[in-house]
Amino acid sequence: MKNMDIVEGRFFISGRFEDCCVGIQDGRIAKIAKVLEGDTRRRFGGAGILPGAIDAHVHFRDPGMTSKEDFGTGSTAALHGGVTCVLDMPNTSPATTTLSALRDKKKLASAKSMVDFGLYAGVREGIDVRALAKEAVGFKLYMASTTGELMVQSLADVKSELSAIAGTGKVLAVHAEDEKLRKKEPEKDLDDHLRNRNNECETSAIRKVKDAAKGCRIHICHVSAKDSLPLIQNTKELTSEVTPHHLILDKDIKVGSHAKVNPPLRKREDRHALFKALQGGTFDIIASDHAPHTLDEKAEDFDYAPSGMPGVETMLPLMLHMVEEKHLDLAGAVARLCSRPGEIFGIPKGKIAVGYDADFIVVDFSQCVMVRADRLPSKCGWTAYEGMPAIFPKSVIVRGETILDRGDVVGDQIGRDVIAARK
Ligand code: NCD
Ligand code: ZN
Repeated sequence: MKNMDIVEGRFFISGRFEDCCVGIQDGRIAKIAKVLEGDTRRRFGGAGILPGAIDAHVHFRDPGMTSKEDFGTGSTAALHGGVTCVLDMPNTSPATTTLSALRDKKKLASAKSMVDFGLYAGVREGIDVRALAKEAVGFKLYMASTTGELMVQSLADVKSELSAIAGTGKVLAVHAEDEKLRKKEPEKDLDDHLRNRNNECETSAIRKVKDAAKGCRIHICHVSAKDSLPLIQNTKELTSEVTPHHLILDKDIKVGSHAKVNPPLRKREDRHALFKALQGGTFDIIASDHAPHTLDEKAEDFDYAPSGMPGVETMLPLMLHMVEEKHLDLAGAVARLCSRPGEIFGIPKGKIAVGYDADFIVVDFSQCVMVRADRLPSKCGWTAYEGMPAIFPKSVIVRGETILDRGDVVGDQIGRDVIAARK
């Protein structure tokens, strides 16, 4: 008989808390019952136990840009934020567009990651779609210039690649900004950044990709404009994502280039429309677009400062605070942070159910703290959410192992590739 480890507490199962025992074998949930006997037992009385979150959009900068972040620091930040699985974007250096680059990244991530991970392959002309599809968690298409060199000039250039991706059944995640509509005026502040990348830039890109990538499982990343909502609502043609920064921040935040991000922070009315849409059931998932840059890089003149902000460690804690404040319901938040990303990307995580990975986070909703950059493990050392209230998990369990306990890393580095694990 295999060993069975028991975790006992108030689990969030099918939309509500239940006092029960979860039996874990080989890192997976084997049994759920009121009473269970096992070889070991961990009790988390009082607090709530949620599934670990899956962040489907992070930039851990490894390889090639490790002064900003690396897979070790990025995944430690994820762990502290209750994220037990990350999907890493391909705009690293080298870009993840070949099987050898993908395998190299997999190797380095396996040696450093504190949480499980999947890796995107970048779309560009001439990529070997079939080979990449076997080992990547999905494909990423960049329709406008941003960090890295993966922008596709015209969707016509990747016509055959998109049709091959449709045949693989893998997700096509899209950075939807239309490079042709992007203005290239010099920028000195967030207003200028927004002017260069206005709402139409996003809506036009969504329309174009819907048309050009028919048959693909299109996933629109970081929807940011109110005008995009009608294009993503009530359709089976695509799935969509929203970030905490587009829900919480807008162009009037006074942190200069730290809040320069693509797509841009928009007007308050856009932010409110996104939030209302989220409350009403729009958006399949919430993802962070964790895109760290160093303080030195962000201190450049606004026009030269790179776009992107960190967020993997603050995503779930900020959202749980919104739940505590009754702006969001817990079931909706858990669906978008945990179970839906698992469903979309075909990862058996994000749900407390038999057969799923035993990834849990232990949360005490009465423990609200202020976000402080000096307490966050991300290498970049800053956050746009400084001083904002958030509820961080106390303990985090990855595939049955307690890795974080009362805020301290206590477990081994066991992160592994979710695609390789499935084989
Ligand atoms: C991202 C980065 O820095 O890698 N930046 C950003 O503003 N979101 C790239 C991207 O996703 O656009
Ligand atoms: Zn991104």
